[in-house]
Amino acid sequence: MAIKFDPVNLMDSMVGSGHGISASDVSRHAGQAKEAVKNFHKLVDEGKYGFPHLPFQTKEHKSYLDFAASVRGSFDTVCVVGIGGSALGAWALDCGLRGPHPVQAAFSPKNPRLVILDNVDPDFIGGALASMNPKKTLVAVIAKSGATAETVAAFLIVREWLAQKLGANKAAQRIVAVTSAGTGDLKVLATKEGYQTFHLPDNVGGRFSVLSAVGLVPAALCGFDIRKLCKGAAAMTALSWKEDLAANLAANAALHQWLSLTQRAKTIQVAFPYVNRLWGTAFWFRQLWAESLGKKYDRQGNTVHVGQTPIAALGTTDQHSQVQLYMEGPNDKAFTFWTVRKPADPGRIPKTKTGLEAMDYLPGQTLAKLLDAEQRATAAALTEAQRPNSTFTLDRMDAEHLGAFLQLLEFETAFAGELLGIDAFDQPGVELGKRFTFALMGRKGFGEYGDRFKADEKLRQNR
Ligand code: PA5
Repeated sequence: MAIKFDPVNLMDSMVGSGHGISASDVSRHAGQAKEAVKNFHKLVDEGKYGFPHLPFQTKEHKSYLDFAASVRGSFDTVCVVGIGGSALGAWALDCGLRGPHPVQAAFSPKNPRLVILDNVDPDFIGGALASMNPKKTLVAVIAKSGATAETVAAFLIVREWLAQKLGANKAAQRIVAVTSAGTGDLKVLATKEGYQTFHLPDNVGGRFSVLSAVGLVPAALCGFDIRKLCKGAAAMTALSWKEDLAANLAANAALHQWLSLTQRAKTIQVAFPYVNRLWGTAFWFRQLWAESLGKKYDRQGNTVHVGQTPIAALGTTDQHSQVQLYMEGPNDKAFTFWTVRKPADPGRIPKTKTGLEAMDYLPGQTLAKLLDAEQRATAAALTEAQRPNSTFTLDRMDAEHLGAFLQLLEFETAFAGELLGIDAFDQPGVELGKRFTFALMGRKGFGEYGDRFKADEKLRQNR
């Protein structure tokens, strides 16, 4: 496994002192990054946070693989019902290991497709159901809390859809639940109806759960090599505990991002993969970085309103959509390119020439070379325009590198949280909207929020 981090274009020597951080800033604060690693390590050792342990849970991995082997061949579709951290990891893995949906090989019992029901748009859910055969679908309902309104609503529809076609008993055999062991109504229902159930540890939050049952059960069902994913993640975990920042990519990247945010006001980070297979990971990262670091209070209870807004962009596609803004709009962004050094297939452009000037420099070259040239050209152009940018380079796009990269980004997020002095593992800001929704949908015990919502509405109408 080989992943590199190149921060040179974040430096003032490349993008000027107004926008770039200085080498002396980096060395002056290196001690803080090391402290962040130590603090976080202590919290993990105390059992407060669990994601670093996930790649080493070989007994659990075997149980996912055994279950997948026991049902293999009986379905051509894995239907994940979940949202946020309970859905995005499965998407990142599927996109990373098989490519984005439109270009995946035809699905079959040997190569089951992944359908993720996250949003409760009725048109989307209806269309998804119409596209699946209940006799050939295995449903994975995933919710740590066991109570997320979107997941519960979609699951009640899918459960009924299965039961109508297969009968309630057979339907229950086609459902696997992933949830907390001790709490939540999904656990109660799963036990009552006899679903195969896997648990995620209490100390692993949704957005850090891709390498728990949350991501690995769908991955095992789709036939991915989850052992290789975890092998890469385990190697990255070992690096992420190192004191030496040259070896600890996650801490080094966190330090650079934190300095760009706090010293040069780069309040937006554009995750800019130049590989379609990392598009799912970019969306997974958006949640990880936003929900973990966007906080009102620091650990001491001071009001801080910190965070760096993550944006997902795809190269080269977004050169023709976003780069005008990135080059000439507000200089408030740090760009992080994600590249792959050795694509599986370089994509040779046929040698035949056309006799036309705008075309004849390309024959005989490769798409990989063009993609690489475009990425380096964009980085150089941004640098000239004093727009700070850095690059992660994965040697290859395979299970080991993907597992390592996901783990790297999780560690980077945890360390950035330590540097910011905030709790990267809670999400109090999403609660109020959820409670208003419960009140609007008539859930018991949320009357107070119904009254608050009505008062807000009244205020709006009187304006
Ligand atoms: O990261 C998180 O904790 C959240 O984004 C959750 O994953 C999301 O809200 C879904 O929660 P649950 O798994 O309980 O349905």
